[in-house]
Amino acid sequence: MCDQADEAIRISNLSVDFRKQSPAKRAGTEGSYFPVVRLPSLSIQQGTIVAILGPSGCGKTTFLKVIAGLHDPCGKNVRLTGDIKLLGKSVTEAVRSHLLSISFQVPVLMPWRTSSENIMLPLELTGQMAKMGVEQLEQNRYDIDQALKTVRLPGFQDRYPEELSSGQLSRVAVAQAMMSQAKILLMDEVFGTLDEANRMEMNLRLRKINCSLMHRTVVFVTHSVEEAVLLGDRVLVFQRLECQVRPESSVVKDISIALSERSNEVRYSDSDFHKQKQDLEETLLSLEA
Ligand SMILES: Nc1ncnc2c1ncn2[C@@H]1O[C@H](COP(=O)(O)OP(=O)(O)OP(=O)(O)O)[C@@H](O)[C@H]1O
Ligand SMILES: [Mg+2]
Repeated sequence: MCDQADEAIRISNLSVDFRKQSPAKRAGTEGSYFPVVRLPSLSIQQGTIVAILGPSGCGKTTFLKVIAGLHDPCGKNVRLTGDIKLLGKSVTEAVRSHLLSISFQVPVLMPWRTSSENIMLPLELTGQMAKMGVEQLEQNRYDIDQALKTVRLPGFQDRYPEELSSGQLSRVAVAQAMMSQAKILLMDEVFGTLDEANRMEMNLRLRKINCSLMHRTVVFVTHSVEEAVLLGDRVLVFQRLECQVRPESSVVKDISIALSERSNEVRYSDSDFHKQKQDLEETLLSLEA
Protein backbone atom coordinates (compact mmCIF):
# COMPACT_ATOMS: atom_id res chain seq x y z
CA MET A 1 0.00 0.00 0.00
CA CYS A 2 1.55 3.33 -0.98
CA ASP A 3 1.39 6.63 0.79
CA GLN A 4 -1.45 8.74 -0.64
CA ALA A 5 0.85 11.77 -0.82
CA ASP A 6 2.98 9.89 -3.36
CA GLU A 7 0.06 8.83 -5.51
CA ALA A 8 -0.02 10.02 -9.11
CA ILE A 9 -3.27 8.24 -9.94
CA ARG A 10 -5.99 6.97 -7.62
CA ILE A 11 -9.07 5.32 -9.00
CA SER A 12 -12.10 4.13 -7.02
CA ASN A 13 -15.13 2.29 -8.34
CA LEU A 14 -14.54 3.20 -11.97
CA SER A 15 -17.15 1.79 -14.28
CA VAL A 16 -17.35 2.51 -18.03
CA ASP A 17 -20.07 1.12 -20.30
CA PHE A 18 -20.67 1.92 -23.96
CA ARG A 19 -23.98 1.80 -25.71
CA LYS A 20 -24.29 -1.09 -28.16
CA GLN A 21 -24.18 -0.03 -31.77
CA SER A 22 -27.48 -1.78 -32.42
CA PRO A 23 -30.27 -1.20 -34.94
CA ALA A 24 -32.34 0.04 -31.96
CA LYS A 25 -29.78 2.79 -31.38
CA ARG A 26 -29.72 3.77 -35.02
CA ALA A 27 -33.50 3.98 -34.92
CA GLY A 28 -33.11 6.45 -32.05
CA THR A 29 -34.49 4.20 -29.31
CA GLU A 30 -32.68 3.40 -26.09
CA GLY A 31 -30.14 0.63 -26.68
CA SER A 32 -28.45 -1.54 -24.08
CA TYR A 33 -24.95 -0.95 -22.73
CA PHE A 34 -21.99 -3.29 -22.44
CA PRO A 35 -19.26 -3.16 -19.78
CA VAL A 36 -15.85 -1.98 -20.97
CA VAL A 37 -13.85 -1.02 -17.87
CA ARG A 38 -14.27 -1.89 -14.18
CA LEU A 39 -11.69 -0.80 -11.65
CA PRO A 40 -12.84 -1.05 -8.05
CA SER A 41 -9.53 0.33 -6.80
CA LEU A 42 -6.22 1.24 -8.41
CA SER A 43 -3.37 3.28 -7.09
CA ILE A 44 -0.29 4.26 -9.09
CA GLN A 45 2.65 5.83 -7.33
CA GLN A 46 4.45 8.88 -8.68
CA GLY A 47 7.43 8.07 -10.88
CA THR A 48 6.14 4.61 -11.75
CA ILE A 49 6.06 3.31 -15.32
CA VAL A 50 2.97 1.13 -15.71
CA ALA A 51 2.42 -1.08 -18.76
CA ILE A 52 -1.05 -2.24 -19.73
CA LEU A 53 -1.45 -5.43 -21.74
CA GLY A 54 -4.62 -7.18 -22.83
CA PRO A 55 -6.54 -8.58 -25.78
CA SER A 56 -7.90 -6.28 -28.45
CA GLY A 57 -11.11 -4.58 -27.38
CA CYS A 58 -10.60 -5.06 -23.62
CA GLY A 59 -10.75 -1.33 -22.89
CA LYS A 60 -7.10 -0.24 -22.73
CA THR A 61 -7.54 2.85 -24.92
CA THR A 62 -10.85 3.63 -23.24
CA PHE A 63 -9.12 3.55 -19.85
CA LEU A 64 -6.43 6.04 -20.97
CA LYS A 65 -9.04 8.31 -22.56
CA VAL A 66 -11.11 8.31 -19.38
CA ILE A 67 -8.08 9.32 -17.31
CA ALA A 68 -7.35 12.07 -19.85
CA GLY A 69 -10.92 13.37 -19.67
CA LEU A 70 -11.63 12.52 -23.31
CA HIS A 71 -14.91 10.77 -22.55
CA ASP A 72 -17.73 13.02 -21.48
CA PRO A 73 -19.41 11.46 -18.40
CA CYS A 74 -22.66 12.99 -19.65
CA GLY A 75 -22.22 11.69 -23.22
CA LYS A 76 -25.20 9.83 -24.59
CA ASN A 77 -23.26 6.73 -25.69
CA VAL A 78 -21.24 6.24 -22.54
CA ARG A 79 -22.06 5.52 -18.91
CA LEU A 80 -19.15 6.60 -16.79
CA THR A 81 -19.05 6.59 -12.99
CA GLY A 82 -16.39 6.48 -10.30
CA ASP A 83 -13.75 8.67 -8.81
CA ILE A 84 -10.42 9.53 -10.43
CA LYS A 85 -7.76 11.63 -8.76
CA LEU A 86 -4.64 12.73 -10.61
CA LEU A 87 -2.04 14.08 -8.20
CA GLY A 88 -4.92 14.75 -5.85
CA LYS A 89 -6.95 16.69 -8.45
CA SER A 90 -10.08 15.78 -10.38
CA VAL A 91 -9.64 14.95 -14.08
CA THR A 92 -11.00 18.35 -15.11
CA GLU A 93 -8.65 20.21 -12.76
CA ALA A 94 -5.69 18.07 -13.85
CA VAL A 95 -6.41 18.76 -17.53
CA ARG A 96 -6.75 22.49 -16.83
CA SER A 97 -3.45 22.47 -14.91
CA HIS A 98 -1.75 20.60 -17.80
CA LEU A 99 -0.71 17.80 -15.48
CA LEU A 100 -1.06 15.15 -18.14
CA SER A 101 -0.35 14.46 -21.75
CA ILE A 102 -1.68 11.69 -23.97
CA SER A 103 -0.04 10.27 -27.11
CA PHE A 104 -1.66 7.87 -29.54
CA GLN A 105 -0.33 5.26 -31.96
CA VAL A 106 -1.36 7.52 -34.83
CA PRO A 107 0.36 10.73 -33.75
CA VAL A 108 -1.60 13.93 -33.73
CA LEU A 109 0.82 16.44 -35.28
CA MET A 110 -0.05 19.67 -37.04
CA PRO A 111 0.85 19.26 -40.73
CA TRP A 112 1.80 22.94 -41.15
CA ARG A 113 4.29 22.85 -38.28
CA THR A 114 7.83 21.47 -38.37
CA SER A 115 9.04 18.83 -35.90
CA SER A 116 10.40 21.52 -33.55
CA GLU A 117 7.23 23.57 -33.81
CA ASN A 118 5.10 20.51 -33.11
CA ILE A 119 7.25 19.60 -30.12
CA MET A 120 6.83 23.16 -28.78
CA LEU A 121 3.07 23.11 -29.22
CA PRO A 122 2.16 21.92 -25.69
CA LEU A 123 4.42 24.62 -24.23
CA GLU A 124 2.72 27.24 -26.39
CA LEU A 125 -0.78 26.02 -25.58
CA THR A 126 -0.09 26.07 -21.85
CA GLY A 127 1.26 29.63 -22.09
CA GLN A 128 4.72 28.57 -20.89
CA MET A 129 6.47 29.75 -24.06
CA ALA A 130 5.05 33.25 -23.72
CA LYS A 131 6.62 33.59 -20.26
CA MET A 132 10.10 32.52 -21.36
CA GLY A 133 12.97 34.98 -21.52
CA VAL A 134 15.78 34.87 -24.07
CA GLU A 135 17.86 32.44 -22.01
CA GLN A 136 14.98 30.08 -21.42
CA LEU A 137 14.08 30.13 -25.11
CA GLU A 138 17.67 29.24 -25.92
CA GLN A 139 17.57 26.41 -23.36
CA ASN A 140 14.27 25.29 -24.84
CA ARG A 141 15.80 25.07 -28.31
CA TYR A 142 18.64 23.00 -26.86
CA ASP A 143 16.14 20.72 -25.05
CA ILE A 144 14.26 20.15 -28.30
CA ASP A 145 17.50 19.19 -30.06
CA GLN A 146 18.23 16.77 -27.20
CA ALA A 147 14.70 15.32 -27.29
CA LEU A 148 15.06 14.73 -31.05
CA LYS A 149 18.43 13.07 -30.45
CA THR A 150 16.88 10.87 -27.78
CA VAL A 151 14.26 9.62 -30.21
CA ARG A 152 17.01 9.13 -32.80
CA LEU A 153 15.98 11.99 -35.05
CA PRO A 154 18.92 14.39 -34.81
CA GLY A 155 18.72 17.14 -37.39
CA PHE A 156 15.01 16.63 -38.03
CA GLN A 157 14.01 19.96 -36.45
CA ASP A 158 12.77 21.56 -39.65
CA ARG A 159 11.03 18.61 -41.26
CA TYR A 160 7.27 18.74 -41.78
CA PRO A 161 5.10 15.70 -40.88
CA GLU A 162 4.54 14.85 -44.55
CA GLU A 163 8.31 14.42 -44.90
CA LEU A 164 8.48 11.79 -42.15
CA SER A 165 7.81 8.04 -42.11
CA SER A 166 5.16 6.69 -39.74
CA GLY A 167 7.87 5.48 -37.33
CA GLN A 168 9.50 8.91 -37.39
CA LEU A 169 6.15 10.58 -36.77
CA SER A 170 5.66 8.38 -33.68
CA ARG A 171 9.07 9.40 -32.43
CA VAL A 172 8.35 13.12 -32.87
CA ALA A 173 5.17 12.55 -30.84
CA VAL A 174 7.22 10.88 -28.09
CA ALA A 175 9.67 13.83 -28.12
CA GLN A 176 6.66 16.13 -27.82
CA ALA A 177 5.37 14.18 -24.79
CA MET A 178 8.82 14.31 -23.21
CA MET A 179 8.98 18.10 -23.62
CA SER A 180 5.43 18.72 -22.47
CA GLN A 181 6.39 19.07 -18.77
CA ALA A 182 3.29 17.06 -17.91
CA LYS A 183 3.71 15.00 -14.75
CA ILE A 184 1.62 12.11 -16.04
CA LEU A 185 2.26 10.72 -19.53
CA LEU A 186 -0.36 8.46 -21.10
CA MET A 187 0.89 6.56 -24.15
CA ASP A 188 -1.25 4.33 -26.32
CA GLU A 189 0.90 1.98 -28.41
CA VAL A 190 3.17 4.85 -29.38
CA PHE A 191 5.92 2.50 -30.48
CA GLY A 192 3.59 0.28 -32.49
CA THR A 193 4.93 1.48 -35.84
CA LEU A 194 8.59 0.91 -34.96
CA ASP A 195 10.42 -2.28 -35.79
CA GLU A 196 11.44 -4.52 -32.88
CA ALA A 197 15.03 -3.25 -32.55
CA ASN A 198 14.04 0.42 -32.68
CA ARG A 199 11.22 -0.16 -30.25
CA MET A 200 13.47 -1.74 -27.64
CA GLU A 201 16.00 1.04 -27.96
CA MET A 202 13.30 3.70 -27.60
CA ASN A 203 11.94 1.91 -24.53
CA LEU A 204 15.26 1.91 -22.81
CA ARG A 205 15.96 5.52 -23.71
CA LEU A 206 12.58 6.55 -22.39
CA ARG A 207 13.16 4.64 -19.16
CA LYS A 208 16.61 6.11 -18.68
CA ILE A 209 15.42 9.65 -19.24
CA ASN A 210 12.43 9.19 -17.03
CA CYS A 211 14.46 7.71 -14.19
CA SER A 212 17.32 10.14 -14.27
CA LEU A 213 15.73 13.45 -15.17
CA MET A 214 12.04 13.74 -14.93
CA HIS A 215 10.68 11.11 -12.58
CA ARG A 216 7.31 11.28 -14.21
CA THR A 217 4.50 8.78 -14.07
CA VAL A 218 3.96 6.92 -17.33
CA VAL A 219 1.01 4.68 -18.18
CA PHE A 220 1.52 3.01 -21.51
CA VAL A 221 -0.45 0.49 -23.52
CA THR A 222 1.36 -2.12 -25.54
CA HIS A 223 0.76 -5.43 -27.26
CA SER A 224 4.37 -6.49 -26.66
CA VAL A 225 4.99 -8.49 -23.48
CA GLU A 226 8.70 -7.90 -23.86
CA GLU A 227 8.19 -4.14 -24.06
CA ALA A 228 5.96 -4.26 -20.97
CA VAL A 229 8.53 -6.14 -18.89
CA LEU A 230 11.51 -4.15 -20.14
CA LEU A 231 9.97 -0.72 -19.72
CA GLY A 232 7.47 -1.20 -16.91
CA ASP A 233 7.95 -1.11 -13.16
CA ARG A 234 4.53 -2.65 -12.99
CA VAL A 235 2.36 -4.51 -15.50
CA LEU A 236 -1.43 -4.67 -15.50
CA VAL A 237 -3.22 -7.21 -17.67
CA PHE A 238 -6.75 -6.29 -18.69
CA GLN A 239 -9.49 -8.71 -19.71
CA ARG A 240 -12.59 -8.26 -21.87
CA LEU A 241 -15.71 -7.83 -19.81
CA GLU A 242 -18.33 -7.80 -22.54
CA CYS A 243 -19.52 -11.40 -22.01
CA GLN A 244 -19.39 -11.39 -18.22
CA VAL A 245 -22.65 -11.27 -16.32
CA ARG A 246 -21.35 -9.39 -13.28
CA PRO A 247 -17.93 -8.07 -14.19
CA GLU A 248 -15.86 -7.08 -11.20
CA SER A 249 -12.49 -5.91 -12.46
CA SER A 250 -10.75 -5.33 -15.76
CA VAL A 251 -7.44 -6.23 -14.15
CA VAL A 252 -6.69 -9.96 -14.06
CA LYS A 253 -3.04 -9.57 -13.24
CA ASP A 254 -1.06 -6.84 -11.50
CA ILE A 255 2.65 -7.57 -11.12
CA SER A 256 5.66 -5.59 -10.06
CA ILE A 257 8.77 -5.85 -12.15
CA ALA A 258 11.61 -5.91 -9.69
CA LEU A 259 14.58 -6.29 -11.95
CA SER A 260 17.58 -4.76 -10.32
CA GLU A 261 19.34 -3.36 -13.36
CA ARG A 262 17.79 -1.51 -16.24
CA SER A 263 20.37 -2.06 -18.92
CA ASN A 264 19.19 -4.16 -21.82
CA GLU A 265 21.82 -6.88 -21.50
CA VAL A 266 21.36 -7.37 -17.76
CA ARG A 267 17.60 -7.52 -18.03
CA TYR A 268 17.71 -10.05 -20.84
CA SER A 269 20.02 -12.26 -18.81
CA ASP A 270 17.91 -11.95 -15.65
CA SER A 271 16.01 -15.19 -15.05
CA ASP A 272 13.11 -13.24 -13.48
CA PHE A 273 12.70 -11.36 -16.76
CA HIS A 274 12.05 -14.61 -18.63
CA LYS A 275 9.81 -16.00 -15.88
CA GLN A 276 7.67 -12.88 -15.80
CA LYS A 277 7.52 -12.71 -19.57
CA GLN A 278 6.41 -16.32 -19.84
CA ASP A 279 3.85 -15.90 -17.08
CA LEU A 280 2.36 -12.85 -18.83
CA GLU A 281 2.33 -14.61 -22.20
CA GLU A 282 0.43 -17.53 -20.68
CA THR A 283 -2.08 -15.16 -19.07
CA LEU A 284 -2.64 -13.40 -22.39
CA LEU A 285 -3.05 -16.70 -24.23
CA SER A 286 -5.66 -17.83 -21.72
CA LEU A 287 -7.56 -14.56 -22.22
CA GLU A 288 -7.53 -14.99 -26.00
CA ALA A 289 -8.84 -18.58 -25.72
N1 LIG B 1 -16.75 5.66 -28.45
C1 LIG B 1 -17.13 4.38 -28.41
N2 LIG B 1 -18.46 4.05 -28.50
C2 LIG B 1 -18.85 2.76 -28.44
N3 LIG B 1 -18.03 1.72 -28.28
C3 LIG B 1 -16.71 1.98 -28.18
C4 LIG B 1 -16.19 3.31 -28.24
N4 LIG B 1 -14.84 3.27 -28.12
C5 LIG B 1 -14.53 1.97 -27.99
N5 LIG B 1 -15.64 1.19 -28.02
C6 LIG B 1 -15.71 -0.26 -27.81
O1 LIG B 1 -15.22 -0.48 -26.49
C7 LIG B 1 -14.42 -1.65 -26.44
C8 LIG B 1 -13.03 -1.29 -25.93
O2 LIG B 1 -12.38 -0.47 -26.92
P1 LIG B 1 -10.87 0.03 -26.73
O3 LIG B 1 -10.55 0.88 -27.90
O4 LIG B 1 -10.75 0.65 -25.38
O5 LIG B 1 -10.09 -1.36 -26.76
P2 LIG B 1 -8.50 -1.63 -26.72
O6 LIG B 1 -8.26 -2.54 -25.55
O7 LIG B 1 -7.77 -0.35 -26.76
O8 LIG B 1 -8.30 -2.46 -28.07
P3 LIG B 1 -7.04 -2.49 -29.09
O9 LIG B 1 -6.00 -3.33 -28.41
O10 LIG B 1 -7.60 -3.16 -30.29
O11 LIG B 1 -6.62 -1.09 -29.35
C9 LIG B 1 -14.45 -2.25 -27.83
O12 LIG B 1 -15.47 -3.22 -27.89
C10 LIG B 1 -14.81 -1.07 -28.73
O13 LIG B 1 -15.50 -1.50 -29.87
MG1 LIG C 1 -6.50 0.57 -28.19
